[in-house]
Amino acid sequence: MKLSDCYNVGDFRKLAKQKLPKPIFHYIDGGADDEVTLKRNTSSFDKCDLIPSVLTDVSHVDISTTVLGQKINFPLFLSPTAMHQMYHSDGEKATSRAAEKFGTFFSLSTMATSSIEQVSEFASGPKMFQLYIHKDQGLTDNLIDRCKQSGFKAMCLTVDTIVAGNRERDHRTGFTTPPSLTLESLFSFAMHPEWSLKYLFGPKFKLANIAHMTNKGTSIEMSIMDYINQQFDTSMNWKHAEYAIKRWGGPFALKGIMSVEDAKRAIDIGASAIMISNHGGRQLDGSRSPFDQLETIVDAVGDKIEVILDGGIQRGTHVLKALALGAKACSMGKAYLYALSAGGQPGVERLLSKLKDEIERGMTLMGCRSVQELTKDKITFDK
Ligand SMILES: Cc1cc2nc3c(=O)[nH]c(=O)nc-3n(C[C@H](O)[C@H](O)[C@H](O)COP(=O)(O)O)c2cc1C
Repeated sequence: MKLSDCYNVGDFRKLAKQKLPKPIFHYIDGGADDEVTLKRNTSSFDKCDLIPSVLTDVSHVDISTTVLGQKINFPLFLSPTAMHQMYHSDGEKATSRAAEKFGTFFSLSTMATSSIEQVSEFASGPKMFQLYIHKDQGLTDNLIDRCKQSGFKAMCLTVDTIVAGNRERDHRTGFTTPPSLTLESLFSFAMHPEWSLKYLFGPKFKLANIAHMTNKGTSIEMSIMDYINQQFDTSMNWKHAEYAIKRWGGPFALKGIMSVEDAKRAIDIGASAIMISNHGGRQLDGSRSPFDQLETIVDAVGDKIEVILDGGIQRGTHVLKALALGAKACSMGKAYLYALSAGGQPGVERLLSKLKDEIERGMTLMGCRSVQELTKDKITFDK
């Protein structure tokens, strides 16, 4: 299989599986516990149907939207994900440049393998930084201040990862601290020499944003779950979030909001957006899918705060359904990591091109000339 054989997220996933050693592939692909939430995040889009309008003159269709203070070319962007160099040696350079080329947000994780400063050199498109609240307040402040100096346009605080989720695939493959690779996993590294040689002889990667502040686990890529459990502040509360919003002073999203109550509190503390998300099913298994919770949250707060749907997106029509229920934009994680693993920057560009085309084609077939025309009457949950 080659990149030119990839037409949809499933194809990119297959190629990623072919290219990556097993432990790495399963780190991307897996979810928490029984992976019920992971599966539901995508299957919940099938519970409803789109209702097209016809004869509406769709000779000009504008699929751009404005979110977090930025106009983006289409209503889908890259969620923050950890350690891109582990999936492809070009790492965040590949993903940030692909996002820039397609005129959409790139989100940089606190746990990235490129620093805030490097990414601002790589790409000049709109960038969001994803913050975790560390026990060391100085570290959190340092991240916020560096983003201001480096021209980042928005920030999000992840609120659903107070401890690491139980990812059993990682235990089975030995993607743990310390690494406890099984014979099968070791064999898998040996069977992927392209990846393994780059890893052994290429530049060593590290958690570039935080390596200078702490030596706990930041240079051992296998220890990410330990890092979360040791460094993140489990006393994180609304005051921490409010402090980060004030210190940042620009567009700010809370990522991982799932309840109406929390959405209302996000407004009270001055957030400009919420990302409805369960971390791609990687944290609390059994939690509701973002799409299933979207309508309730939009009905309660959609006129007061931007609502972003994060998780489960595999098709342009998934984005259309979310927008019809009132989301401002959608974001995705796994889909672009498969594409990155499958083919670096050209891989991510191919995926973005396919999804952008699907959104544009879908809106044309729906008879919608702009995202504003994707309204609630265009979707039904009736049988
Ligand atoms: C491999 C991987 C690493 C991730 N790392 C982070 C991270 O560092 N910070 C964060 O807020 N979310 C992280 N996420 C969650 C994503 O931002 C996003 O919420 C999730 O992937 C959306 O679901 P989807 O994968 O179905 O699109 C990660 C997801 C994956 C798959």
